Amino acid sequence: MKITIVGTGYVGLVTGTCFSEVGINVVCVDIDQKKIDNLKKGISPIYEPGLDEMIARNTEKGRLHFSTDLPSCVNDSDVIFIAVGTPPDEDGSADLKYVLDVARTIGQHMNQHITVVTKSTVPVGTAAKVRAAVQEELDRRELGIFFDVASNPEFLKEGDAINDFMKPDRIVVGVESEKAQEIMARLYKPFTLNGHPVIFMDVPSAEMTKYAANAMLATKISFMNDIANLCEIMGADVNMVRKGIGSDTRIGNKFIYPGIGYGGSCFPKDVKALIKTADTVGYSMRILKAVEAVNDDQKSLLFNKFMSFFTGDVRGKTVAIWGLSFKPQTDDMREAPSLVIIDHLLKQGCRVKAYDPVAMHESKRRIGEVIEYCKDPYEATIDSDALFLLTEWTEFRYPNWVVIRKLMKNPVIFDGRNIYDAVELKSLDFSYFCVGVNTEKP
Ligand code: UDX
Repeated sequence: MKITIVGTGYVGLVTGTCFSEVGINVVCVDIDQKKIDNLKKGISPIYEPGLDEMIARNTEKGRLHFSTDLPSCVNDSDVIFIAVGTPPDEDGSADLKYVLDVARTIGQHMNQHITVVTKSTVPVGTAAKVRAAVQEELDRRELGIFFDVASNPEFLKEGDAINDFMKPDRIVVGVESEKAQEIMARLYKPFTLNGHPVIFMDVPSAEMTKYAANAMLATKISFMNDIANLCEIMGADVNMVRKGIGSDTRIGNKFIYPGIGYGGSCFPKDVKALIKTADTVGYSMRILKAVEAVNDDQKSLLFNKFMSFFTGDVRGKTVAIWGLSFKPQTDDMREAPSLVIIDHLLKQGCRVKAYDPVAMHESKRRIGEVIEYCKDPYEATIDSDALFLLTEWTEFRYPNWVVIRKLMKNPVIFDGRNIYDAVELKSLDFSYFCVGVNTEKP
């Protein structure tokens, strides 16, 4: 089986590389010549644990290739995955320009049956638009070729994407014909050997499944953040409440950690897009609108605590920040709470000193040198008036508080991920604030 993956972003590159790992012949295509040149040299455009090694291994074995020439790959493929970007346009809906450009190129060159699969996160109805775009080009060429369109949403988590792809909870595929179902079942067989199902369904349901899954997860997070904020006011401890409810198997103990709001490339974009899709057909997603509003507020939570701790007198204060990426194991800062917090701090005239194990280059690219970058977590705390823990990287778990107490000018910690022990920090004379627990009770 030969496949082509169009788009070497996060989804495309992980998908292509993992398919090649099980012996499938894969070409990853991108219009960005520099990206492709780098990939040929083994330089990956993204940070994802295990990916570089897997790319190198499969390139060397001759089953993973990189190219900028989509037309020459079309007829060499049984399946073409479209995994190009769908950036949100001004009103929040996914911009399908790149997806449809690829579909047209396929239609302009296709001479045999191909299954065209949408892998990018696309609104319900996109596969139908892809079908129409391919068909239009075939009609222009007066060719009556039978082809298939399928929808195969991805559920990869950044930082754990390889594992998610190789051992998925489930694979969702929307198909329109038995032939496409048979081809997709064959393609995914190596990933289902330990009992993980491929769930076949119609195309719109597959497209909706992706949005419903992410919207549900985002809802869990915002719900817990709302409960956390109330816990704090009422004198309850959200960590206890989380354990108490999570042990009910109907609720489950995953994705109910309160924090400083969800970020990343998926949840914010998908929640917005689903709200928008519903609005355009005259239905209001009331819960998701609230999910979004709670999340926006939650990103300012630590900053608000910092303001009230210093009763608004924060001009000229130095703030240490630990963690810039939206979550550990990635350098991704898209929609990261750190960006919102840094913006608030700078607007208030604070000096910000940050450290992140891998995301500092990404931060420099995004916001430049408006903050200072430190070589380790300790350096960031020197002479600081406050420490903000924003990303729960393992290297922040057990810092030497005695050393930090001496380095900081003013010992106050704002923990956005509830990873520290309030009693221990109190005993060392720190002021400690987290999410959903009133740690500064008199
Ligand atoms: C998510 C989905 O998990 C994945 O299935 C989908 O394909 C893409 O979106 P990802 O964005 O990589 O993956 O990150 P994830 O690990 O799911 O975390 C998302 C955000 O939620 C992070 O900002 C994280 O800090 C936050 N989060 C997660 C919480 O605040 N609390 C939780 O309990 C879990």
